[in-house]
Amino acid sequence: MTKDIDWGNLGFGYIKTDYRYVSNYKDGAWDNGTLTTDETVTLHESACVLQYAQTCFEGLKAYRTEDNRVVCFRPNMNAKRMSDTAKRLEMPPFPEDRFVDAVEKVVKANLDFVPPYGSGATLYIRPYLFGSNAVIGVKPATEYQFRIFTTPVGPYFKGGVKPITLRIPDFDRAAPRGTGHVKAGLNYAMSLHAIVDAHNQGYNENMYLDSATRTKVEETGGANIIFVTKDNKVVTPKSDTILPSITRRSLMYVAEHYLGLEAVEREVPVEELKEFKECALCGTAAVLSPVGKVVDHGEEILFPSGMENMGEITKKLYDTLTGIQMGRIEAPEGWLKVIA
Ligand code: PLP
Ligand code: COI
Repeated sequence: MTKDIDWGNLGFGYIKTDYRYVSNYKDGAWDNGTLTTDETVTLHESACVLQYAQTCFEGLKAYRTEDNRVVCFRPNMNAKRMSDTAKRLEMPPFPEDRFVDAVEKVVKANLDFVPPYGSGATLYIRPYLFGSNAVIGVKPATEYQFRIFTTPVGPYFKGGVKPITLRIPDFDRAAPRGTGHVKAGLNYAMSLHAIVDAHNQGYNENMYLDSATRTKVEETGGANIIFVTKDNKVVTPKSDTILPSITRRSLMYVAEHYLGLEAVEREVPVEELKEFKECALCGTAAVLSPVGKVVDHGEEILFPSGMENMGEITKKLYDTLTGIQMGRIEAPEGWLKVIA
């Protein structure tokens, strides 16, 4: 029985569900893993995650489709990205096939929390991995824990699909040859001050620039960015220091193969912002959130799509992507993992 939750009014927050998955790594091997009802984690005071932030995470969702199946969107891509992240942080990757299997187990165990089709809510799935044993010299842990919890969520930005405002901050997100291209917890720790500052000044998010030259658009704290040119090309910034968003890669495919649009990944100079007719943030949490305005140190760049509605191409991308995720539109081979 689906839980009695006010699905239509959910924000993006934590709600406890019944089960989570846990597996421990010790003596060079992962154990068999298990489901547990205990949402707490007890750690050594000198655990590597607490002292040196040796932690990374993933984010994906389970959707209830029009014909009442429960599916996940491309979980193998999250498994691969988490392996890449783990290697960059000197952590043992959780095997990719076991990652997908664990996602399936934890969603199955929490099926009653998968929001109904059409409610606007989904079940967010948060896999994470951290160094758990005591270290004091700066070195990686030798013991790790991999966990997955789930929580039902609504829209990431209040107001759902209303256009948001970004500002170009004086803070940087990722250094050249740093960790911007992986999903390390440290990337988010260092963005907390910038996001609080942005909110205090009335902006929804930060549009980070490349930190080497501060002339090119990168991404926000929690999503990639797409633009639409006046001649209806979909453009996304190319950079080694942004997270390779699964949503963005899927949208570029949708633009080309479903909508017949040209989709280009290339450098995007800040001066070009005023040339675009639409802009949106994309990610698992953000889905496709339209951006109405960017403020660059007092200069306001208002996209022609305005502050009321999604741009026309953004809307087509949104409808097609969510149509695929909710089973209304046929998905490319391998994009949906059916859980129930
Ligand atoms: N960029 C950052 C910094 C993120 O945290 C996320 C969220 O996962 C994304 C982009 C979007 O990635 P994805 O579409 O794989 O969720
Ligand atoms: C996601 O979209 O899954 C994210 O991780 C973004 C944010 C919640 C950090």
